[in-house]
Amino acid sequence: MNLKKRMKTFVGLCLLSGGLFAQNVCVSTPNTSLLLSAPEGGELRILYYGQKLTDADLRTFEGERGIDAAYPVYGLTCITETALSVQHADGNMTLQMAVENVATTDADNATETTVRLKDKVYPFYINVCYRAYKDVDIIEAWTEITNGEKKPVTLNQFASAYLPIRRGEVWLSHLHGSWANEGRLVQEPLVSGMKVIKNKDGARNSHTDHAEVMFSLDGQPRENQGRVIGAALCYGGNYKLRIDTHDDEYHHFFAGINEDNSAYHLEKGETFVTPQLALTYSDEGLSGASRNFHRWGREYKLANGDKLRKILLNSWEGVYFDINQEGMDQMMADIASMGGELFVMDDGWFGDKYPRNKDNSSLGDWVVDQRKLPEGIEGLLADAKKHGIEFGIWIEPEMTNTVSELYEQHPEWIIKAPQREPVLGRGGTQLVLDLSNPEVQDFVFGVVDNLMTKYPEIDYIKWDANMPISNHGSQYLPADKQSHLYIEYHRGFAKVCDRIRAKYPDLTIQACASGGGRANWGILPWFDEFWVSDDTDALQRVYMQWGTSYFFPAIAMASHISAAPNHQTFRTIPLKYRIDVAMSGRLGMEIQPKNMTDEEKALCKNAIAEYKQIRPIVQLGDLYRLVSPYDKLGLASLMYVTPEKDKAVFYWWKTEHFVNQHLPRVVMAGLDPDKLYKVHELNRIDNVPLSCEGKVYSGAYLMANGLEIPYNHIVDYHKQNDYASRVLYLEAVK
Ligand code: GLA
Repeated sequence: MNLKKRMKTFVGLCLLSGGLFAQNVCVSTPNTSLLLSAPEGGELRILYYGQKLTDADLRTFEGERGIDAAYPVYGLTCITETALSVQHADGNMTLQMAVENVATTDADNATETTVRLKDKVYPFYINVCYRAYKDVDIIEAWTEITNGEKKPVTLNQFASAYLPIRRGEVWLSHLHGSWANEGRLVQEPLVSGMKVIKNKDGARNSHTDHAEVMFSLDGQPRENQGRVIGAALCYGGNYKLRIDTHDDEYHHFFAGINEDNSAYHLEKGETFVTPQLALTYSDEGLSGASRNFHRWGREYKLANGDKLRKILLNSWEGVYFDINQEGMDQMMADIASMGGELFVMDDGWFGDKYPRNKDNSSLGDWVVDQRKLPEGIEGLLADAKKHGIEFGIWIEPEMTNTVSELYEQHPEWIIKAPQREPVLGRGGTQLVLDLSNPEVQDFVFGVVDNLMTKYPEIDYIKWDANMPISNHGSQYLPADKQSHLYIEYHRGFAKVCDRIRAKYPDLTIQACASGGGRANWGILPWFDEFWVSDDTDALQRVYMQWGTSYFFPAIAMASHISAAPNHQTFRTIPLKYRIDVAMSGRLGMEIQPKNMTDEEKALCKNAIAEYKQIRPIVQLGDLYRLVSPYDKLGLASLMYVTPEKDKAVFYWWKTEHFVNQHLPRVVMAGLDPDKLYKVHELNRIDNVPLSCEGKVYSGAYLMANGLEIPYNHIVDYHKQNDYASRVLYLEAVK
C-alpha cells in the first residue's frame, strides 16, 4: 500500500475513534514507521519507531499513551534530560507545550509532517517536523522554534530531535578518532549513565567523534543481521549527541547543536530552525542501515550524488609546497599516461607579497605566485588540455595568516575576542575568518567566484579548513550576540556555499579539513566528496574507511594511492595492496609519479582501466561489509553490488601476516541466490590465475560458502611480501 493510501486510511481511523486522545500520526517510509500521538490540546508523544506498521498494528496503537514526549521540554519535568530548555524574558524557566494542529504536505519524493505545538501560557511555538522519503528508509527530523513573545527568549538547549530506544542488549556503534586516524569504529554496549558524543572545534567537526551513531537492538552488532537504528545529525558545526539511561525501560537519545557556550537569544518574531537528524531503521544489520544512509545520501544530500567521479592525481604528497610550472606539467603528463582524468594542484601556488612556501603565510592572498607559475593558471589549464585531462585547484578560503596582505588590510575580519591577542594556529600564524560577518561571506564567496569567473575551465576545487575556532569572539557580532558565534559561523558558511552551488552546480568540490574534519551530511549537500584522512597508509585506511563507510558512500570517500614508505606511518606496503584499498573508494593518486618505476606505472595504469569498469558498482552500488578488520581475524572484506544484483566487486585485504594462520573463508552477501556469477580477478599480480578464475558460481553458493582465497601471492621470489589482497569482479551470466 502506498504512503498516500496509508495516510488516508489512518485519518479514517482517527475519525472513527474520535476524541481528543486518539489523534495518532504515522510517518512512514517504504519499510519503516514512526508513530506519534498528537491529540489537539494535549502532549505530543512518541508511540513507536521501527519496522513498518500494518493497518491492524496502527489500530492496536489507538488510544495508547505512548512512550514519552516526542520532543521533551524543560520546566515542569526536571529530572530527566530534555531536548529544549529556555528562559522567557520574565525569567520563567518552564515550557508546557500542547498540540495545536498537524499538517502534512506531499511532495514527489517525500511526505512532510509538521506538528505545531504552543505553550499553554506563552505565545511560544515549536514545529516538530518530519520528512519521510518515499523511496528510501530515512526520516529527517528537526524543529522550528518561534518566539511570539514581546521580548527575546533565551534558548539554553535546542536539540534537533529525540528518540527513545527500548533497553535490552543495545549496542552503540560510533566513530572516534584523531587527525590522521579518523573514522575509527567503536562498538560498546549501552549501560546506565549518560553517553555523550560531542564536538567543539567550531569550524570542522569529524576528526575526533562523529555526529552519527548506530544502535544494534539485538545484542552484539552484526553487519548483515539484526535490527539497527541509525542516526546522523546533518550539521557542520559543534554538536552534541546524548544517550541517557537512567531508571526506566528506555535509552533516551537526543541529538542537536552543541549548546555549550552557545546560548541563543531568540528575538521577538524570530524562528530558530535546528539541523536535521536523519533516522533510519533496518533489519539487515549495520550494513543495511549503511545502505539506507548511502542511498539517501547519493539521491538527496550529496552534491552530484548520481554522477561518477573522475580519477585524479593530487600534488600534495608528491611535491608538497614545491609548486612550479614544469613540475605540474610533468605530473599532468604522468597521470594522463596512466589513464587518469584530472590533476589537482594542492597548496603552495599563491601569494604575491608573501609567497606561500610553507604553511605560515599567504592564506587569503588568492593570487598566483608568478615566480612559481609564470604562465599563471592559464598555463596550467593549457597543459591540462594538452594532456587531455581536467584541472583542479586547492584553496582554504575561510582562513588567513598574520603574514598576508588580507590580514594587513582586514584585521577586523578575524575571529578574536575583544582586548585579547589573536590565538594562532597552523604555522604559528593561521587565523579563522569571521563568517558571521557578511563582508567576510562576500570575500569567501569571491575566492571561488573570482577563480571560476577568470578560469571557467577549472573542474575541481579542494576546499580545505586547517584550524579550529579559538579565541571565542566576533568583531562583527554585537556584545549581546557573542554567544551566537558558533551558530552564525555556520549560517555564514551555509550562505556562502548556497551561493557557490547556485552559480556553479557542476563544479566538483572536495571538503577537506586537515584530512577528514568535514565528513558530515550537513556539509555534503555543497560538496561532492571529502578527504577521508591525511593518513594515506593503506593498512590504516582499511580501518578508517571501514568506519567511515558506516554512514558515507564510497563515491564521497576520496581514497588515494600514495608512496611507500608511507609519509605518515612510514610503513612499506606493496603497490598492489595500496591500489586494492584505494580502489574501494573514490580512486585517486597522491604520489610523485616521477619516482615510480615503469612497472609500477604499468600496474597503476592497469588498475585505473579496471577501476573504470567497476566504477559504477563501487560509486553507485550497495555496500555489504563482510569481515571487519576490527574483529582481528587477520583480514577485512567487503563488497559492492549493483541494485539489479547483476554485477559485484569483492575486496579482500589481509590485515596481518603469519605462516599457516588459517584465515576464515569469507561468505559473500547481497547477491541474488538464483543468479549465476562468473568470477574474474582484477589487478592480478600472481603468476598463475586463482582457481576460481573464470568459473561460474550461484549466488546461493557464494553467500553460503564464499570462495577460497590463497593467503599469499604466487609471485617471483624477490617480489614476495607480507601484504596480500584480492579484488574479484562478479558478473551474472545466463
Ligand atoms: C591539509 C590537507 C592536506 C593538504 C594540506 C595542504 O593538511 O588535509 O591534504 O591539502 O592541508 O597544506
